[in-house]
Amino acid sequence: MNNIVNGVDLSIDFAGIRSPNPFWLASAPPTDKAYNVVRAYEAGWGGVVWKTLGEDPAAVNVSSRYSAHYGKNREVLGFNNIELITDRSLDINLREIAQVKKDWPDRALIVSLMVPCEEASWKHILPLVEATGADGIELNLGCPHGMPERGMGAAVGQNPDLIEKVTRWCKQYYSKPVIVKLTPNITDIRAPAQAALRGGADAVSLINTINSITSLDLDHMVAKPTVGHQSTHGGYCGSAVKPIALNMVAEIARDTPTRHLPISGIGGVSNWRDAAEFVALGAGSVQVCTAAMLHGFRIVEEMKDGLSRWMGEQGYRSITEFSGKAVANTTDWKHLDMNFKTIAHIDQDKCIQCGRCYIACEDTSHQSIAQWVEASGARRYEVIEEECVGCNLCQITCPVQDCISMVPQDTGKPYLSWERDPRNPFRIAS
Ligand SMILES: Cc1cc2nc3c(=O)[nH]c(=O)nc-3n(C[C@H](O)[C@H](O)[C@H](O)COP(=O)(O)O)c2cc1C
Ligand code: SF4
Ligand code: SF4
Repeated sequence: MNNIVNGVDLSIDFAGIRSPNPFWLASAPPTDKAYNVVRAYEAGWGGVVWKTLGEDPAAVNVSSRYSAHYGKNREVLGFNNIELITDRSLDINLREIAQVKKDWPDRALIVSLMVPCEEASWKHILPLVEATGADGIELNLGCPHGMPERGMGAAVGQNPDLIEKVTRWCKQYYSKPVIVKLTPNITDIRAPAQAALRGGADAVSLINTINSITSLDLDHMVAKPTVGHQSTHGGYCGSAVKPIALNMVAEIARDTPTRHLPISGIGGVSNWRDAAEFVALGAGSVQVCTAAMLHGFRIVEEMKDGLSRWMGEQGYRSITEFSGKAVANTTDWKHLDMNFKTIAHIDQDKCIQCGRCYIACEDTSHQSIAQWVEASGARRYEVIEEECVGCNLCQITCPVQDCISMVPQDTGKPYLSWERDPRNPFRIAS
């Protein structure tokens, strides 16, 4: 497949795994069989992480399985599932993986795995996976439903000692790259990432899904998805989880022990811009699940086209040229400039006098927007500059694009961190 799109080289080498572009399908139903994976490759995906394999007998799924958190216009903001790992036998999966890799040598094919947390189980399955010729493995230490009750998935991913142990076994019994997929259902994502590194991981990927209940059927007093008269919590994903995933990727990218550890960014990637954001915060590849489930394999065309055009405009010739570029600008609160000031400005030509900005500012603590009625009867909204704290709320709530802009002010004051601010009772004496 051609790596060059719109004159830009989209190819990556992720922890030793080569891929013609950074877009991989995440381990999930779209990657659960050769029929799907082949059509995904035909559509232009650079790689796939095969739906998680486990020991036989294969997992058994319930009916129904999915639910959603909707926006006002039935747009799916977040997606929830209670599926388990593959419900097909190990043998069928391995045979299909070997064939697909043989037929599509230029695409990345990573095999996701989840077996009991016992050395014998890993020692048994890893040579079988190695024999398929797949490019690497991804350890599913994050599935939050069903599997933890059996001592697998998030039950391992929430315990750094177990992560380290399992990763070490994989490095011992498997010769190709080992990616450890992390669960977000944990307080501090840096701990499992560091554990993976200690165990010898070549990379981490994140996030897996977040424990969730999306909604209830109030007539029957049961959560969704409903299985008969009952339900259970599921795993949340889709665009609603992107902010959580981005932060976790950034946490790992800026943590000293893991800052050189390759990261595959997952969580709510729906378009090229989402992907670029993950890359800018340190990801070397991105994985997509929900967006492909909702809109089909062909979304990758827009992703490749949009990303390459933007890269071309910015002068980036490869993914590595901007991977991690936003990491240094992502810092702790205490390092922010206390002397920086920005204030809101309303473009009166664009304003439709809806009053939303006024209500938001008035009912928050700021009261920095004046409202009055002109002689013509028209309402007018104006920012009281001396009162504005630059919180962005009016801009966020304004329904008109670019009507409110935030304008940085020249205060003439130098950079001042909270650590040195005279208002800080615990400041560091200069
Ligand atoms: C229906 C469904 C099944 C999934 N199955 C797996 C799985 O078998 N193994 C795994 O590591 N992750 C699984 N995931 C999680 C995804 O790979 C991905 O980490 C998560 O959905 C976040 O990405 P997204 O926001 O693009 O969906 C599954 C997700 C969904 C929605
Ligand atoms: S930026 Fe905040 S404080 Fe300033 S006008 Fe807008 S809502 Fe009010
Ligand atoms: S929210 Fe925007 S459009 Fe509405 S009054 Fe304020 S500035 Fe005007």
